[in-house]
Amino acid sequence: MSGMERYDLVTHHELSEITGGPTLSVAHLERAQLEIDRAGKRFRILILTNPDNPTGGVYSHQQLVRFTDWCVDQGIHLVVNEIYGLSLIDTQHPVIREDYTEDVVFSSFANIMQAKQSDLLHLWYAFSKDLGISGLRVGLVYSQNESFIKAYGNVNLSHTASNYTQWVLQLLLSDTDFMSSYVANNRARLTESYAIVIRHLKELGIPYVPARGSLFTWLDLSELLPEDSSAAEHDLWLNLYHSAGVLLTPGEGFGHSKKGLFRLVYPCVTKHDLETAMDRFSGFVVRKRQSAS
Ligand SMILES: Cc1ncc(COP(=O)(O)O)c(C=O)c1O
Repeated sequence: MSGMERYDLVTHHELSEITGGPTLSVAHLERAQLEIDRAGKRFRILILTNPDNPTGGVYSHQQLVRFTDWCVDQGIHLVVNEIYGLSLIDTQHPVIREDYTEDVVFSSFANIMQAKQSDLLHLWYAFSKDLGISGLRVGLVYSQNESFIKAYGNVNLSHTASNYTQWVLQLLLSDTDFMSSYVANNRARLTESYAIVIRHLKELGIPYVPARGSLFTWLDLSELLPEDSSAAEHDLWLNLYHSAGVLLTPGEGFGHSKKGLFRLVYPCVTKHDLETAMDRFSGFVVRKRQSAS
């Protein structure tokens, strides 16, 4: 056993605190380190997902540089998971553009790794989300840490992607014309679907975090909870599914302190079906509000 323990770093309680993007700062990391030290333990690894799951927020290049410098200084490993790195929203779309006051652009951690050249920095990626091929189980880790690479190669034996899978992906990735048009198309369609969701949420006045990337929207339905508890959140989640046929991901699984937060995953259906789902969702919210008044 590695003896590794998870520490949940809490940066906010209300969604309104993170509408401009993830607010994680070096001050949060220092506070966490102090608490971990006081418990007689050591802060060893910081794992970030960029774009973030479940908020869809993107860490700016400057934020990432600050975290990198701090981690390298403290001897802490920094792993950045970019599994949603090509699933980016076009924030200039007319339905959503007023949600973004700052110009934050996704920038791969690979650029920072290249500049810093440290054994403590690692980039994690998988093709599952951006290419919609979760079932093929192909991912990668990029690191300059020789002992980590050696150990990982050893662990990895039973998880290798089949030769056939590697061959297909190699053909796909070397077709740069196809890949460029795929990434652009994917972004345009993702944005159109995202705009359908946001149009409904705006009409309903439901708080959400404006996403810059990822495949989901993080929203707040706490006004519909009869009480502030996990049980009430669970009941609302099931009730929405049974009465409207819409299945969200409850916030409970993300360890969020506020109850009544949900993740809405939207790109897996056609725009027509998404409109239908959002209409049903809206009907559900309106009925709930009416029965509460
Ligand atoms: C941030 C993040 N990392 C990794 C994964 C794993 O993806 P998969 O098992 O489909 O490769 C997920 C899936 O939801 C994810 O959200």
